[in-house]
Amino acid sequence: MTSDSSTPKRRVLFVCLGNICRSPAAEGVLQTLAVQQGVADDIFVDSAGTSSYHIGEPADRRMRLAASNRDIELTSRSRMVSPRDIAEFDLVIAMDHKNLRELKALVNEVESQHIRLLSDYLEGDWPDEVPDPYYGGDEGFEQVLDMLQAASPAILDELLTA
Ligand code: 4NP
Repeated sequence: MTSDSSTPKRRVLFVCLGNICRSPAAEGVLQTLAVQQGVADDIFVDSAGTSSYHIGEPADRRMRLAASNRDIELTSRSRMVSPRDIAEFDLVIAMDHKNLRELKALVNEVESQHIRLLSDYLEGDWPDEVPDPYYGGDEGFEQVLDMLQAASPAILDELLTA
């Protein structure tokens, strides 16, 4: 089912540390899945970082290449997450526990009910956190994409049915 103009888009924000590896990939993976499923008009996908290290930069070249090999284009520029983001997005998804703690520290408990961990959407034998691939080899970027592609159908389902 697609939305008409009276149906607000469901908004999801992915968050990692630098907003150049994991969360831009999460944004691209979910957006690509939504296009494939014909529901891109029903959602708004964005990403941000808990640090200011890479503000304004495109996604890491290694992450862009790994995603491109799966026909996923990463177009985001790094920005820092704000308390306003938490208020404005329907769902905020952290890549690891440290991101999750930092996001929750930005708002009070009532306002943080929609902040989740990416691994909440994974079933089976996956790590509890999306590992930071920045200082590692190419296989780390593939593992990130494997996890994001495994989790995205459940995220899309929750967004569209909530
Ligand atoms: P991300 O990866 O949090 O997945 O974007 C990182 C990018 C940069 C750094 C650390 C992690 N850094 O330390 O600059």
